[in-house]
Amino acid sequence: FQYGYSLGVINAPQRANLEELDVGKSTLTLYWSLSVSIFAIGGMISSFTVGWVGDKLAMLAVNVLSIIGNLLMGLAKFGPSHILIIAGRAITGLYCGLSSGLVPMYVGEISPTALRGALGTLHQLAIVTGILLSQVLGLDFLLGNDDMWPLLLGLSGAAALLQFFLLLLCPESPRYLYIKLGKVEEAKKSLKRLRGDCDPTKEITEMEKEKQEAASEKRVSIRKLFSSSSYRQPVIVALMVQISQQFSGINAVSLSSERIDTNCITVGLIKPNILNEFLQVFLVEKTGRRSLFIAGLIGMLASAVAMTVGLVLLGTFAWMSYMSMVAIFLFVIFFEVGPGPIPWFIVAELFSQGPRPAAIAIAGFCNWTCNFIIGMCFQYIADLCGPYVFTIFAVLLLGFILFAHFKVPETKGKSFEEISAAFRRKRRSAIKGHKAATELEDLRGSEEA
Ligand code: GLC
Repeated sequence: FQYGYSLGVINAPQRANLEELDVGKSTLTLYWSLSVSIFAIGGMISSFTVGWVGDKLAMLAVNVLSIIGNLLMGLAKFGPSHILIIAGRAITGLYCGLSSGLVPMYVGEISPTALRGALGTLHQLAIVTGILLSQVLGLDFLLGNDDMWPLLLGLSGAAALLQFFLLLLCPESPRYLYIKLGKVEEAKKSLKRLRGDCDPTKEITEMEKEKQEAASEKRVSIRKLFSSSSYRQPVIVALMVQISQQFSGINAVSLSSERIDTNCITVGLIKPNILNEFLQVFLVEKTGRRSLFIAGLIGMLASAVAMTVGLVLLGTFAWMSYMSMVAIFLFVIFFEVGPGPIPWFIVAELFSQGPRPAAIAIAGFCNWTCNFIIGMCFQYIADLCGPYVFTIFAVLLLGFILFAHFKVPETKGKSFEEISAAFRRKRRSAIKGHKAATELEDLRGSEEA
């Protein structure tokens, strides 16, 4: 929620006449660009440390970052406001980078297999709720005005406080207790709290298998993740789904719609998002991740084409503006069908306990970096390409669809052990295939000789 709130909140104060600073317009623009982008830089840096923080400090402690960051922004009027906002945004960025990795990891670990996707989708639902609330509160007559903007910016500190107390009521991840810390009894207790009176034997057996596997390779570092061929396939999938999510153009569309009408469109745009996300929670366990991901990308591709047609022909037919508008709505709706929520939780599913934290760290870093690149470059590219700008995303989307079709596995209803075993099998058969091909070539070579 705090991540979504921080993403959406920054637009409103930009409109308010908030700076009593006696600086030129260009310096003011620089301060604003910096406060927008420093958030993503904070996220990029901290998301990389998720593996280490997840083991040592946990979600509870990192809330401190959010509280400090939000306090700095909330008190901005009492000091040099530009410095306090930039510092506050950087620190909340650090917080959001960590939570965007820790939350899906925790949710993935505590969920029963049959509900992992549905519960994982709640992450994106919370993000879009955060975006919506920040934009509603950012309306001029609420908090988006000269007097109230510091409160608007610092308000997600309240969510951090609430989370701090609610987390005290949450059980520790049983997989973490069992596999990482070897605390069998505590793991069973935690499972009992999570599942009620169900028999924990099946899950404990599954964790035991994962533990044995993890024991054979010790702690998996980020370097090991890249260098070991056994992780190559899941790492590529984990990175590509993040790249697909960000380079689908979702934030570029939000940026463009922001320019069309700062109030109505953005708030209106997020609304179908939320409804859609609710439906998605139920859909993801029925239809499966892979098909929803691909269906969402195909819908986005069609909408991007429609958007381009609408923009190109806008001068010729006035009604094309409606077509662009509908296409933008559909683009967002299709994003929430799959490419929005799935990348956040599928990484936790693709890896077993040993490599999971490192994998989530690199996937998070990739997501934040792509987000930053779009934020920095989109406007320049849009100026350069004019109405054809969304064809770039259409081409990228086509590539992502093909990738997903050939490489993304279905993880619905499978245990972590089963998923990594499937990757191992695939790798073994690829090696066998490679060996057979080499033997065949050797044979041909010796026959020729
Ligand atoms: C996802 C993306 C984020 C985007 C949001 C929009 O969470 O990671 O960049 O702004 O969806 O709903």
